[in-house]
Amino acid sequence: MTVKSRKLTKNMITIFAAYLATPLEELVKDEEALKVGGRLFLQNCAQCHGSDARGSKGFPNLTDSDWLYGGDLATIKTTLMNGRNGMMPPKGGLPIEDSEIEGLAEYVVKLSGREHDEALAAQGQGSFMKGCFACHGMDAKGNKFMGAPNLTDNVWLYGGSRGVISESIVNGRAGVMPAWKDILGEEKVHVIAAYVYSLSNK
Ligand code: HEC
Ligand code: HEC
Repeated sequence: MTVKSRKLTKNMITIFAAYLATPLEELVKDEEALKVGGRLFLQNCAQCHGSDARGSKGFPNLTDSDWLYGGDLATIKTTLMNGRNGMMPPKGGLPIEDSEIEGLAEYVVKLSGREHDEALAAQGQGSFMKGCFACHGMDAKGNKFMGAPNLTDNVWLYGGSRGVISESIVNGRAGVMPAWKDILGEEKVHVIAAYVYSLSNK
């Protein structure tokens, strides 16, 4: 190792320690820190969330202020440190017959404010009351403790067509966000958390 590169490494270590000592509320105003966070994002997160952080099927968009788990600084950092695993068992683990799926999907379409068949959606609402609300909420606006998505905003993790909605219901879903505390360490996670927050808080 040359003297120069050793110095560089030492500087980087000092910088990350300084970042960690800075409260996130302050760090989000530090343009240099956000640039460093952006580089770390490209190296570690873009493969799933996209280099523009807009996500894709099964990988949430991180730029849209629509959060499965919550978009405040502390929650974002917790998500990165410990990972997340949203769990919906097939048919929500509920006594739902195959014949009820079409109605349920139609009701979900209705919830998201789109054109729908009223009679079919009414059937689906009956099925929803068998227990979908336990996770998605009585108002179907989701539950951030479980990562159950809001079904009323027409923003979809997996897709909003009747076909994909039916698939979500029949097979369930289980998206896995890896935990980063042991891979990157808290110092780097801290800086990336500030960067992720900045994407939807300009
Ligand atoms: C292997 C793929 C993968 C990688 C790599 C990955 N993520 Fe994720 N991430 C996911 C998935 C899948 C979810 C949704 C989890 C769920 O459905 O419960 C998620 C969820 C999240 C959330 C929660 C979003 C919300 O709406 O609450 C944040 C924030 C996030 N990721 C940030 C990151 C950051 C920052 C990195 C890099 C350090 C990263 N992710 C790397 C797959 C990944
Ligand atoms: C045990 C809790 C639970 C129950 C019960 C449940 N869900 Fe879910 N649901 C979730 C979670 C958590 C996710 C997100 C999974 C992930 O992150 O991969 C989800 C995802 C979905 C999606 C995908 C949304 C999108 O944005 O693509 C739909 C649609 C859905 N649920 C509808 C239903 C319906 C209809 C029922 C009742 C039959 C139901 N859920 C019952 C927890 C639940």
